[in-house]
Amino acid sequence: MASHGLTVLPPTTRAGEYLLPAQYLLYSLAYLPSTIYHTLTGPAPFTDTFFSRIWASLPVDFSEEKRRIIAGAHGVVIEIGPGLGNTLQWYDKDKVDSLYLVEPNRAMHTELKEAVVKYGWEGRCKVVACGIEDAQELAKEGVPKEGVDCLVSIQVLCSIPDPSIHLPALHRRLKRGGELRIFEHIRSHDSTTAWLQWFYDFVWHIPFAGCELSRPTDKLLGELEGWKEVQLEKIKGESRWCTIPSSWGWLVKA
Ligand SMILES: C[S@@+](CC[C@H](N)C(=O)[O-])C[C@H]1O[C@@H](n2cnc3c(N)ncnc32)[C@H](O)[C@@H]1O
Repeated sequence: MASHGLTVLPPTTRAGEYLLPAQYLLYSLAYLPSTIYHTLTGPAPFTDTFFSRIWASLPVDFSEEKRRIIAGAHGVVIEIGPGLGNTLQWYDKDKVDSLYLVEPNRAMHTELKEAVVKYGWEGRCKVVACGIEDAQELAKEGVPKEGVDCLVSIQVLCSIPDPSIHLPALHRRLKRGGELRIFEHIRSHDSTTAWLQWFYDFVWHIPFAGCELSRPTDKLLGELEGWKEVQLEKIKGESRWCTIPSSWGWLVKA
């Protein structure tokens, strides 16, 4: 459902919301045998291979909110965790001067590089094979360590190591007036649901490559000093029992 172009979620049951991560976990088991085979024959470790196979099998879902986040990026842009490159179709090429795609999961690089060609970014962007926390490798690959216009992150900040260190590091990369543009799932603002997310986290990170359902990314970013504007919203109609609730918008560096 959509209203003024934005998503409005239909009502759902409490049980349905609580069981959604369990359904994903059961679904992921189907990819275990092929993951074992591809880990033995491919370039990436088990967890990366497992996640890449699951992610590639899920329907590509680019809601209006995600498209806005991407389409508003301009100037020097770093996309954190572009995955299979589905985001590349939504950038406005006239507004982007340079685009760095920082994707540590090598099991996703074939599809990512195919997407670079498919969406006309060949020669206009750079794929960098490391995590956004790897300052040394980023510097070696020429990723700017300051003066960046926009950082784009679509469902990635749940997986970066130690957000207390690496979120401030992201802030430092931005220039004054630069934007961190995000669509992220977050810790529920409902305490029972947040407890359930914490419980799922004991196993969730295995198929989902280090992702934490219970990470309060919106709160961590809001508490970080040095923003002159914090424009984060929830999806309209999202149930308070939603176990994978989202926050989207942008934060502008002071
Ligand atoms: C849920 S997927 C999202 C992919 C893509 N942004 C999209 O929306 O289709 C999370 C992505 O974040 C990447 N990722 C995980 N940890 C990362 C890190 N430390 N630095 C950069 N990317 C990371 C994963 O490899 C994966 O591609």
